Amino acid sequence: MLTHEEVYKFLKKKPTLSHSGLNKEAGLPTGTLAKAMNGQRTLSEAHLKALVPVLRQYGIDDFLNHRAIVLAVVNHKGGVGKTTTTINLGKGLANRGQSVLLIDMDSQGNLSQSLGVHNPEQQLLQALTQNVPIPVVPLKENYHLVPSDLELARAEADLTKTPSGVLRFRNALTPLLTQYDYILIDCPPSLTIFTYSALVASTAALVVLEPEASAVKGMYNLLELIHDIKESFNARLGVEGIVMARVNPQLVLHRELMAQVRADLKGQPFFKTEIRQNIALAESQYVGQDIFEYKPTSTGATDYQALADEVVAKHPA
Ligand SMILES: Nc1ncnc2c1ncn2[C@@H]1O[C@H](COP(=O)(O)OP(=O)(O)OP(=O)(O)O)[C@@H](O)[C@H]1O
Ligand SMILES: [Mg+2]
Repeated sequence: MLTHEEVYKFLKKKPTLSHSGLNKEAGLPTGTLAKAMNGQRTLSEAHLKALVPVLRQYGIDDFLNHRAIVLAVVNHKGGVGKTTTTINLGKGLANRGQSVLLIDMDSQGNLSQSLGVHNPEQQLLQALTQNVPIPVVPLKENYHLVPSDLELARAEADLTKTPSGVLRFRNALTPLLTQYDYILIDCPPSLTIFTYSALVASTAALVVLEPEASAVKGMYNLLELIHDIKESFNARLGVEGIVMARVNPQLVLHRELMAQVRADLKGQPFFKTEIRQNIALAESQYVGQDIFEYKPTSTGATDYQALADEVVAKHPA
């Protein structure tokens, strides 16, 4: 049996379905669904029963079984562009009508600060340590954030104390899976319990690499970790793709390094899109905006939209 909330969410997601047409098909009094959508009434059991066969035809079962694609944005090397990618890939996905949740899994709190959220009272920490729901801050329609700050570091001891600590984030995330199309987790530059927890809860890892001599070396550790987590906790875990970031296409050295990285990691899924160096990306973070708000005509906006389009193309609805 459907609930009022489920019908509400479904119809909200399907703006092209005519409420009056559905009323007629289900034999409901005129205006019933319009009132339900305006918050003027709650659908009764009889209404919901009549709506089941009608809404089934329009795909409500698939909608209710929907699960978000959860991507852990990872690299244990610092400053490669993980947070920048989380913000702007996320916004690029939202630009394509996807509902997106960003999660700040780094006690540096850069993701939250870069989106204008400072010293959040409600943050991921409490969900990891006090068994309360994960707090969500809606930034824009379809673009939400779970913030963190330095306080998150306090969870480390708690999460590592018990063997099941690494599952706590996955369990806390479960109720949110039906509410979003994509959940992006901004991981810290370390292979600690936070990165482990993110990978345990994810559909796939999205690896950000800079063109530099040591890029491949670090990747082997990361791929080994992904393999371990897949074997022990999360059989579905894959690699969504490797994206090269902070690239200067004019630099011969960068072109050579990228060719080398691709050759050394042959068989790994690389994104076609490369994120070029673009000062507007750094500036946008400084003023607390995503790149599409700050400078929609920048190469940063072009590249991140292309990356988002590649991701969407991998997951046909
Ligand atoms: N493509 C780019 N062009 C220019 N500057 C960039 C680009 N990508 C990221 N930056 C800047 O580089 C710095 C590091 O980027 P970012 O914070 O995204 O890296 P990170 O991998 O999340 O770092 P950390 O490991 O510390 O969390 C930031 O100041 C960011 O604005
Ligand atoms: Mg970061």
